[in-house]
Amino acid sequence: MRRKPIVAIDGPAASGKSTTARLVARRLGYIWVDTGAMYRALALKALWEGIGSENHERLKEMVGRTDVRLKERGGDLRVFLDGEDVTEAIRSPEVTHAVSWVCTFPFVRQAMVKLQREMACDGGVVMEGRDIGTVVVPDAEVKVFLDADVKERARRRWRELRERGVDVSLDEVEQDLTERDRKDTEREHAPLCRAPDALVVDTTSLSVEEQVDRIVGMVKVYMANRKKQIAKRKSQNLLKPCV
Ligand code: CDP
Repeated sequence: MRRKPIVAIDGPAASGKSTTARLVARRLGYIWVDTGAMYRALALKALWEGIGSENHERLKEMVGRTDVRLKERGGDLRVFLDGEDVTEAIRSPEVTHAVSWVCTFPFVRQAMVKLQREMACDGGVVMEGRDIGTVVVPDAEVKVFLDADVKERARRRWRELRERGVDVSLDEVEQDLTERDRKDTEREHAPLCRAPDALVVDTTSLSVEEQVDRIVGMVKVYMANRKKQIAKRKSQNLLKPCV
């Protein structure tokens, strides 16, 4: 049994996963893993190398010689691509467009899922993405499916982009989100879907603090129940030393 649980947060684009996962991790003292950032880093490198969606072989070869790492720096998560900090570069609209096809290849997913499992195995991790509770760590102790109305998600992403100086209309952002959701849910490998045992948290009318409180609350309930279960097993003499 892991000492600390794994918290898996899945959900569609701009449902608030990153903000929530970062704050939940901070409150619990856990590690935050943004798996979308890892796929984005690979997409950035594919763009740098001029690899298109039809170049499977070149993409495969590229993935084999690419090092993607997430590191915590000053309470923030930095993304490193072959040792270079690409945290800001992976948020460009070009990367957002390219990641939609880069992440569909099974060899890309296998390579990233391997790294993600290594990061999660000791527990004490808040991992967010599209397939965390279904494929990456189906045995995660706490599973959340974060959702929100598409119009609200579009408004949030639009505000975010405007703050970064990206000139785009609200309609374009909504169309882009709808298209990405469609691709993410319809793709063959590891599509976006809710794990049967994930709790849906609809953030449409929740504040960030409320959604963070809700998930931290779920982790606390899990920990309290686990303590009870361990005490019960002890009282029934069911906990035997592993020899
Ligand atoms: O933040 P945003 O919702 O825009 O997306 P992201 O979490 O940065 O992920 C970027 C893209 O990577 C998504 O549109 C998914 O297609 C893909 N992704 C994935 O396939 N599997 C994951 N575990 C995480 C992201």
